[in-house]
Amino acid sequence: MSKINIPLSIPHLAGKEWAYVKEALDTNWVSSAGPFVDRFEEEIARSTGARFAVATVNGTAALHVALRLLGVGSGDEVVMSDLTFIAPANAVRYLGAWPVFIDAEERYWQMDVNKLEDFLQEDCESTREGLRNRHTGRIVRAIMPVHILGSVCDMEAILGIADRFGLKVVEDATESLGALQGGKAAGTFGRMGCLSFNGNKIITTGGGGMILTDDEDLARKARYLTTQAKDDSVEFVHGTVGYNYRMPNVLAAIGCAQLAQLPGFVERRRQIASMYREAFKACGRIEILKEPPGTYCTFWMSTARFIGTSREGTSRKLLRLLDRQGIQTRPLWQPMHQSPAQQDAYASDCSLADVLNAECLCLPSSVDLEDAEVYRVAKSAVRIFE
Ligand SMILES: Cc1ncc(COP(=O)(O)O)c(C=O)c1O
Repeated sequence: MSKINIPLSIPHLAGKEWAYVKEALDTNWVSSAGPFVDRFEEEIARSTGARFAVATVNGTAALHVALRLLGVGSGDEVVMSDLTFIAPANAVRYLGAWPVFIDAEERYWQMDVNKLEDFLQEDCESTREGLRNRHTGRIVRAIMPVHILGSVCDMEAILGIADRFGLKVVEDATESLGALQGGKAAGTFGRMGCLSFNGNKIITTGGGGMILTDDEDLARKARYLTTQAKDDSVEFVHGTVGYNYRMPNVLAAIGCAQLAQLPGFVERRRQIASMYREAFKACGRIEILKEPPGTYCTFWMSTARFIGTSREGTSRKLLRLLDRQGIQTRPLWQPMHQSPAQQDAYASDCSLADVLNAECLCLPSSVDLEDAEVYRVAKSAVRIFE
Protein backbone atom coordinates (compact mmCIF):
# COMPACT_ATOMS: atom_id res chain seq x y z
CA MET A 1 0.00 0.00 0.00
CA SER A 2 1.26 3.49 -0.80
CA LYS A 3 1.13 6.44 1.51
CA ILE A 4 -2.41 7.76 1.14
CA ASN A 5 -2.70 11.52 0.90
CA ILE A 6 -6.27 11.63 -0.41
CA PRO A 7 -8.27 9.23 1.80
CA LEU A 8 -11.64 7.80 0.86
CA SER A 9 -13.70 9.46 3.55
CA ILE A 10 -12.75 10.79 6.94
CA PRO A 11 -14.88 12.42 9.63
CA HIS A 12 -15.08 16.19 9.93
CA LEU A 13 -15.15 17.07 13.64
CA ALA A 14 -15.08 20.83 13.50
CA GLY A 15 -18.18 21.81 15.48
CA LYS A 16 -18.96 21.63 19.20
CA GLU A 17 -17.83 18.00 19.61
CA TRP A 18 -15.12 18.77 22.18
CA ALA A 19 -17.32 21.14 24.19
CA TYR A 20 -20.22 18.69 24.38
CA VAL A 21 -18.01 15.71 25.26
CA LYS A 22 -16.40 17.80 28.01
CA GLU A 23 -19.86 18.67 29.30
CA ALA A 24 -20.80 14.96 29.36
CA LEU A 25 -17.60 14.07 31.24
CA ASP A 26 -17.79 17.04 33.62
CA THR A 27 -21.33 16.11 34.61
CA ASN A 28 -20.56 12.38 34.98
CA TRP A 29 -23.17 11.40 32.38
CA VAL A 30 -20.99 8.97 30.50
CA SER A 31 -23.10 5.88 30.05
CA SER A 32 -26.35 4.87 28.38
CA ALA A 33 -28.58 7.49 29.98
CA GLY A 34 -28.14 11.22 30.02
CA PRO A 35 -29.26 14.52 28.57
CA PHE A 36 -27.34 14.20 25.30
CA VAL A 37 -29.00 10.85 24.50
CA ASP A 38 -32.45 12.45 24.92
CA ARG A 39 -31.39 15.52 22.97
CA PHE A 40 -29.81 13.55 20.11
CA GLU A 41 -32.97 11.46 19.78
CA GLU A 42 -35.17 14.56 19.75
CA GLU A 43 -32.97 16.33 17.21
CA ILE A 44 -32.75 13.30 14.89
CA ALA A 45 -36.56 12.93 15.11
CA ARG A 46 -36.99 16.62 14.25
CA SER A 47 -34.44 16.48 11.44
CA THR A 48 -35.97 13.38 9.78
CA GLY A 49 -39.62 14.08 10.60
CA ALA A 50 -39.96 10.73 12.43
CA ARG A 51 -42.23 10.87 15.51
CA PHE A 52 -39.79 8.80 17.57
CA ALA A 53 -36.08 8.06 17.49
CA VAL A 54 -34.30 5.53 19.72
CA ALA A 55 -30.50 5.72 19.95
CA THR A 56 -28.49 2.48 19.77
CA VAL A 57 -24.84 1.42 19.98
CA ASN A 58 -24.62 0.99 16.21
CA GLY A 59 -26.68 0.60 13.06
CA THR A 60 -26.48 -3.20 13.07
CA ALA A 61 -28.03 -3.31 16.56
CA ALA A 62 -30.76 -0.93 15.37
CA LEU A 63 -31.59 -3.28 12.48
CA HIS A 64 -31.54 -6.34 14.74
CA VAL A 65 -34.05 -4.82 17.15
CA ALA A 66 -36.25 -3.32 14.41
CA LEU A 67 -36.54 -6.70 12.67
CA ARG A 68 -37.35 -8.47 15.92
CA LEU A 69 -40.04 -5.89 16.72
CA LEU A 70 -41.65 -6.43 13.33
CA GLY A 71 -42.08 -10.09 14.24
CA VAL A 72 -39.22 -11.62 12.25
CA GLY A 73 -38.23 -14.85 13.95
CA SER A 74 -36.49 -18.15 13.51
CA GLY A 75 -36.98 -19.73 10.07
CA ASP A 76 -38.66 -16.63 8.55
CA GLU A 77 -37.39 -14.72 5.52
CA VAL A 78 -36.72 -11.04 4.91
CA VAL A 79 -36.47 -9.84 1.32
CA MET A 80 -33.63 -7.34 1.02
CA SER A 81 -31.16 -5.65 -1.32
CA ASP A 82 -28.34 -7.82 -2.66
CA LEU A 83 -25.88 -4.99 -3.25
CA THR A 84 -25.13 -3.81 0.26
CA PHE A 85 -22.69 -3.96 3.12
CA ILE A 86 -23.30 -7.24 4.98
CA ALA A 87 -24.69 -5.77 8.25
CA PRO A 88 -28.43 -5.91 7.37
CA ALA A 89 -28.11 -9.54 6.21
CA ASN A 90 -26.34 -10.40 9.45
CA ALA A 91 -29.08 -8.68 11.46
CA VAL A 92 -31.61 -11.02 9.83
CA ARG A 93 -29.42 -14.00 10.67
CA TYR A 94 -29.08 -12.98 14.35
CA LEU A 95 -32.80 -13.77 14.61
CA GLY A 96 -32.41 -17.23 13.09
CA ALA A 97 -34.15 -15.87 9.99
CA TRP A 98 -32.95 -15.86 6.38
CA PRO A 99 -32.42 -13.07 3.89
CA VAL A 100 -33.65 -13.34 0.29
CA PHE A 101 -31.54 -11.22 -2.01
CA ILE A 102 -32.96 -8.99 -4.74
CA ASP A 103 -30.76 -7.50 -7.45
CA ALA A 104 -29.90 -3.82 -7.92
CA GLU A 105 -31.37 -1.92 -10.87
CA GLU A 106 -29.35 -0.46 -13.69
CA ARG A 107 -30.07 3.27 -13.42
CA TYR A 108 -29.71 4.16 -9.75
CA TRP A 109 -28.18 0.93 -8.35
CA GLN A 110 -30.84 0.58 -5.61
CA MET A 111 -33.11 -2.46 -5.05
CA ASP A 112 -34.80 -3.50 -8.31
CA VAL A 113 -38.52 -3.14 -7.59
CA ASN A 114 -39.49 -5.17 -10.68
CA LYS A 115 -37.39 -8.11 -9.53
CA LEU A 116 -38.82 -7.69 -6.02
CA GLU A 117 -42.35 -7.89 -7.39
CA ASP A 118 -41.45 -10.83 -9.67
CA PHE A 119 -40.03 -12.76 -6.73
CA LEU A 120 -43.10 -12.22 -4.56
CA GLN A 121 -45.48 -12.90 -7.45
CA GLU A 122 -43.75 -15.80 -9.20
CA ASP A 123 -41.68 -17.52 -6.52
CA CYS A 124 -44.01 -17.26 -3.53
CA GLU A 125 -47.45 -18.61 -2.73
CA SER A 126 -50.06 -17.45 -0.30
CA THR A 127 -50.64 -19.82 2.62
CA ARG A 128 -52.47 -19.68 5.94
CA GLU A 129 -49.22 -18.86 7.75
CA GLY A 130 -48.32 -16.14 5.25
CA LEU A 131 -46.48 -15.78 1.97
CA ARG A 132 -44.31 -18.86 1.42
CA ASN A 133 -41.15 -18.91 -0.69
CA ARG A 134 -41.70 -21.98 -2.90
CA HIS A 135 -37.96 -22.63 -3.16
CA THR A 136 -37.21 -22.73 0.55
CA GLY A 137 -40.61 -23.35 2.13
CA ARG A 138 -39.97 -20.42 4.47
CA ILE A 139 -42.45 -17.63 5.25
CA VAL A 140 -41.59 -14.13 4.05
CA ARG A 141 -42.25 -11.62 6.84
CA ALA A 142 -40.77 -8.32 5.71
CA ILE A 143 -39.04 -6.30 3.04
CA MET A 144 -35.83 -4.47 3.91
CA PRO A 145 -34.74 -2.03 1.21
CA VAL A 146 -31.19 -0.82 1.77
CA HIS A 147 -30.70 2.75 0.55
CA ILE A 148 -27.12 2.71 -0.66
CA LEU A 149 -24.53 5.46 -1.11
CA GLY A 150 -26.73 8.34 0.07
CA SER A 151 -29.59 7.59 -2.32
CA VAL A 152 -33.10 6.21 -1.70
CA CYS A 153 -34.82 3.12 -3.16
CA ASP A 154 -38.12 3.66 -5.00
CA MET A 155 -40.20 3.78 -1.83
CA GLU A 156 -43.57 4.45 -3.45
CA ALA A 157 -43.24 1.24 -5.43
CA ILE A 158 -41.87 -0.75 -2.48
CA LEU A 159 -44.64 0.38 -0.12
CA GLY A 160 -47.23 -0.47 -2.78
CA ILE A 161 -45.75 -3.96 -3.24
CA ALA A 162 -45.48 -4.51 0.53
CA ASP A 163 -49.11 -3.52 0.90
CA ARG A 164 -50.23 -5.85 -1.87
CA PHE A 165 -48.42 -8.83 -0.35
CA GLY A 166 -49.16 -7.97 3.29
CA LEU A 167 -45.50 -7.45 4.25
CA LYS A 168 -43.93 -4.99 6.68
CA VAL A 169 -41.12 -2.68 5.62
CA VAL A 170 -38.02 -1.84 7.63
CA GLU A 171 -35.62 0.52 5.89
CA ASP A 172 -31.88 0.32 6.19
CA ALA A 173 -31.20 4.05 5.82
CA THR A 174 -27.79 3.81 7.49
CA GLU A 175 -26.04 5.31 4.45
CA SER A 176 -28.69 7.90 3.65
CA LEU A 177 -29.25 10.24 6.59
CA GLY A 178 -30.21 13.59 5.03
CA ALA A 179 -31.56 12.08 1.78
CA LEU A 180 -35.16 12.78 0.77
CA GLN A 181 -37.71 11.34 -1.63
CA GLY A 182 -40.79 13.39 -2.41
CA GLY A 183 -39.67 15.64 0.45
CA LYS A 184 -39.76 12.76 2.97
CA ALA A 185 -36.62 11.58 4.76
CA ALA A 186 -34.98 8.21 4.07
CA GLY A 187 -35.81 5.93 7.00
CA THR A 188 -39.32 7.34 7.57
CA PHE A 189 -41.28 5.45 4.90
CA GLY A 190 -41.47 2.00 6.50
CA ARG A 191 -42.81 0.90 9.89
CA MET A 192 -39.25 1.37 11.13
CA GLY A 193 -36.04 2.79 9.69
CA CYS A 194 -32.45 2.53 10.89
CA LEU A 195 -29.48 4.91 10.80
CA SER A 196 -25.77 4.46 11.49
CA PHE A 197 -23.24 6.93 12.87
CA ASN A 198 -20.18 4.81 12.23
CA GLY A 199 -16.93 6.70 11.55
CA ASN A 200 -17.37 6.51 7.79
CA LYS A 201 -20.97 7.78 7.72
CA ILE A 202 -22.14 11.30 6.85
CA ILE A 203 -22.24 12.20 10.55
CA THR A 204 -20.52 10.11 13.18
CA THR A 205 -20.57 9.37 16.89
CA GLY A 206 -17.60 7.03 16.54
CA GLY A 207 -20.07 4.16 16.64
CA GLY A 208 -23.81 4.56 16.96
CA GLY A 209 -27.20 4.01 15.40
CA MET A 210 -30.84 5.05 15.61
CA ILE A 211 -34.23 3.45 15.13
CA LEU A 212 -36.88 5.69 13.59
CA THR A 213 -40.61 5.04 13.79
CA ASP A 214 -43.93 6.86 13.94
CA ASP A 215 -45.38 4.12 16.13
CA GLU A 216 -45.28 4.98 19.84
CA ASP A 217 -45.65 1.37 20.93
CA LEU A 218 -42.74 0.21 18.72
CA ALA A 219 -40.58 3.07 20.03
CA ARG A 220 -41.36 2.10 23.63
CA LYS A 221 -40.56 -1.55 22.90
CA ALA A 222 -37.32 -0.55 21.12
CA ARG A 223 -36.24 1.38 24.23
CA TYR A 224 -37.15 -1.59 26.39
CA LEU A 225 -35.31 -4.19 24.31
CA THR A 226 -32.20 -2.04 23.92
CA THR A 227 -31.90 -1.64 27.72
CA GLN A 228 -31.96 -5.34 28.67
CA ALA A 229 -35.79 -5.48 28.82
CA LYS A 230 -35.81 -4.20 32.36
CA ASP A 231 -39.21 -4.36 34.14
CA ASP A 232 -38.00 -3.36 37.57
CA SER A 233 -34.65 -1.63 37.88
CA VAL A 234 -34.51 -1.99 41.67
CA GLU A 235 -35.20 -5.72 41.80
CA PHE A 236 -33.51 -6.54 38.45
CA VAL A 237 -36.60 -8.09 36.92
CA HIS A 238 -36.35 -8.60 33.14
CA GLY A 239 -39.46 -9.51 31.16
CA THR A 240 -37.71 -11.06 28.16
CA VAL A 241 -34.26 -11.47 26.60
CA GLY A 242 -33.08 -7.95 25.89
CA TYR A 243 -29.85 -6.37 24.70
CA ASN A 244 -27.29 -3.91 25.96
CA TYR A 245 -27.75 -1.77 22.85
CA ARG A 246 -28.23 1.83 24.09
CA MET A 247 -25.96 4.60 22.89
CA PRO A 248 -23.75 6.11 25.63
CA ASN A 249 -24.24 9.77 26.50
CA VAL A 250 -20.61 10.67 25.59
CA LEU A 251 -21.22 9.46 22.04
CA ALA A 252 -24.62 11.16 21.82
CA ALA A 253 -22.78 14.39 22.74
CA ILE A 254 -20.65 13.99 19.60
CA GLY A 255 -23.84 13.20 17.65
CA CYS A 256 -25.52 16.47 18.69
CA ALA A 257 -22.50 18.46 17.54
CA GLN A 258 -22.30 16.51 14.27
CA LEU A 259 -26.00 16.77 13.46
CA ALA A 260 -25.81 20.58 13.59
CA GLN A 261 -23.33 20.36 10.68
CA LEU A 262 -25.34 17.90 8.56
CA PRO A 263 -26.77 20.43 6.06
CA GLY A 264 -23.26 21.71 5.28
CA PHE A 265 -21.93 18.16 4.96
CA VAL A 266 -24.69 17.22 2.51
CA GLU A 267 -24.11 20.34 0.45
CA ARG A 268 -20.38 19.66 0.19
CA ARG A 269 -20.82 15.97 -0.68
CA ARG A 270 -23.28 16.96 -3.40
CA GLN A 271 -20.77 19.48 -4.77
CA ILE A 272 -18.04 16.84 -4.81
CA ALA A 273 -20.30 14.43 -6.76
CA SER A 274 -21.12 17.20 -9.28
CA MET A 275 -17.44 18.00 -9.74
CA TYR A 276 -16.64 14.36 -10.47
CA ARG A 277 -19.61 14.11 -12.86
CA GLU A 278 -18.49 17.21 -14.73
CA ALA A 279 -14.88 16.02 -14.91
CA PHE A 280 -15.92 12.59 -16.27
CA LYS A 281 -18.34 13.94 -18.89
CA ALA A 282 -15.87 14.07 -21.76
CA CYS A 283 -14.78 10.46 -21.22
CA GLY A 284 -18.30 9.11 -21.77
CA ARG A 285 -17.63 5.73 -20.11
CA ILE A 286 -17.46 6.83 -16.48
CA GLU A 287 -20.76 7.36 -14.74
CA ILE A 288 -21.31 8.86 -11.27
CA LEU A 289 -24.29 7.53 -9.27
CA LYS A 290 -27.40 9.25 -10.66
CA GLU A 291 -30.08 10.96 -8.61
CA PRO A 292 -33.51 9.31 -9.06
CA PRO A 293 -36.38 11.68 -9.96
CA GLY A 294 -37.96 13.36 -6.93
CA THR A 295 -35.02 12.26 -4.78
CA TYR A 296 -32.47 14.41 -3.01
CA CYS A 297 -29.32 12.31 -2.55
CA THR A 298 -26.56 13.11 -0.10
CA PHE A 299 -23.86 11.44 -2.23
CA TRP A 300 -22.42 10.20 1.06
CA MET A 301 -19.90 8.31 -1.08
CA SER A 302 -19.29 9.51 -4.63
CA THR A 303 -19.20 6.30 -6.63
CA ALA A 304 -18.14 5.92 -10.24
CA ARG A 305 -18.97 3.11 -12.64
CA PHE A 306 -16.17 2.46 -15.09
CA ILE A 307 -18.30 0.97 -17.82
CA GLY A 308 -16.93 -2.15 -19.47
CA THR A 309 -14.33 -2.93 -16.82
CA SER A 310 -16.08 -6.09 -15.61
CA ARG A 311 -15.11 -7.80 -18.84
CA GLU A 312 -11.55 -6.54 -18.74
CA GLY A 313 -11.25 -6.73 -14.95
CA THR A 314 -9.59 -3.34 -14.94
CA SER A 315 -11.40 -1.51 -12.16
CA ARG A 316 -9.21 -3.22 -9.53
CA LYS A 317 -6.12 -2.36 -11.56
CA LEU A 318 -7.34 1.22 -11.55
CA LEU A 319 -7.73 1.01 -7.76
CA ARG A 320 -4.12 -0.16 -7.38
CA LEU A 321 -2.72 2.49 -9.72
CA LEU A 322 -4.65 5.26 -7.95
CA ASP A 323 -3.39 3.88 -4.65
CA ARG A 324 0.17 4.26 -5.95
CA GLN A 325 -0.58 7.94 -6.45
CA GLY A 326 -1.77 8.23 -2.84
CA ILE A 327 -5.47 8.21 -3.80
CA GLN A 328 -7.66 5.82 -1.82
CA THR A 329 -10.66 4.24 -3.56
CA ARG A 330 -12.75 1.18 -2.71
CA PRO A 331 -14.92 -1.30 -4.62
CA LEU A 332 -18.57 -1.75 -3.74
CA TRP A 333 -19.32 -4.64 -1.40
CA GLN A 334 -19.24 -8.24 -2.55
CA PRO A 335 -22.90 -8.82 -3.51
CA MET A 336 -24.66 -10.76 -0.77
CA HIS A 337 -25.54 -13.72 -3.03
CA GLN A 338 -21.78 -14.26 -3.46
CA SER A 339 -20.93 -13.92 0.22
CA PRO A 340 -19.61 -17.11 1.88
CA ALA A 341 -21.32 -15.89 5.06
CA GLN A 342 -24.75 -15.92 3.37
CA GLN A 343 -24.39 -18.94 1.11
CA ASP A 344 -27.52 -20.79 2.25
CA ALA A 345 -29.84 -17.84 1.60
CA TYR A 346 -32.08 -17.73 -1.48
CA ALA A 347 -31.33 -15.12 -4.15
CA SER A 348 -33.16 -14.09 -7.28
CA ASP A 349 -31.12 -13.34 -10.42
CA CYS A 350 -28.58 -10.81 -9.13
CA SER A 351 -26.46 -10.38 -12.26
CA LEU A 352 -26.47 -6.59 -12.20
CA ALA A 353 -25.10 -6.51 -8.65
CA ASP A 354 -22.16 -8.55 -9.96
CA VAL A 355 -21.55 -6.07 -12.79
CA LEU A 356 -21.75 -3.07 -10.43
CA ASN A 357 -19.40 -4.76 -7.99
CA ALA A 358 -16.93 -5.34 -10.82
CA GLU A 359 -17.21 -1.90 -12.40
CA CYS A 360 -17.70 0.58 -9.56
CA LEU A 361 -15.23 2.32 -7.31
CA CYS A 362 -16.06 4.66 -4.43
CA LEU A 363 -14.00 7.82 -4.80
CA PRO A 364 -12.63 10.17 -2.14
CA SER A 365 -15.62 12.04 -0.70
CA SER A 366 -14.59 13.68 2.60
CA VAL A 367 -16.28 17.03 3.19
CA ASP A 368 -12.94 18.77 3.66
CA LEU A 369 -11.53 17.66 0.30
CA GLU A 370 -10.29 20.68 -1.60
CA ASP A 371 -11.70 21.28 -5.09
CA ALA A 372 -8.17 20.83 -6.47
CA GLU A 373 -7.97 17.39 -4.84
CA VAL A 374 -11.28 16.32 -6.39
CA TYR A 375 -10.00 17.39 -9.82
CA ARG A 376 -6.71 15.58 -9.22
CA VAL A 377 -8.55 12.34 -8.42
CA ALA A 378 -10.80 12.74 -11.47
CA LYS A 379 -7.90 13.56 -13.79
CA SER A 380 -5.83 10.60 -12.59
CA ALA A 381 -8.81 8.23 -12.88
CA VAL A 382 -9.60 9.35 -16.44
CA ARG A 383 -5.95 9.20 -17.53
CA ILE A 384 -5.45 5.67 -16.19
CA PHE A 385 -8.85 4.42 -17.40
CA GLU A 386 -8.43 5.74 -20.92
C1 LIG B 1 -25.95 -0.51 4.48
C2 LIG B 1 -25.44 -0.60 5.87
N1 LIG B 1 -26.21 -1.20 6.81
C3 LIG B 1 -25.82 -1.29 8.09
C4 LIG B 1 -24.61 -0.77 8.50
C5 LIG B 1 -24.22 -1.02 9.91
O1 LIG B 1 -24.01 0.10 10.65
P1 LIG B 1 -23.00 0.02 11.90
O2 LIG B 1 -21.62 -0.05 11.35
O3 LIG B 1 -23.28 1.28 12.62
O4 LIG B 1 -23.36 -1.18 12.69
C6 LIG B 1 -23.78 -0.12 7.57
C7 LIG B 1 -22.49 0.50 7.88
O5 LIG B 1 -21.69 0.29 8.64
C8 LIG B 1 -24.21 -0.05 6.21
O6 LIG B 1 -23.44 0.54 5.28
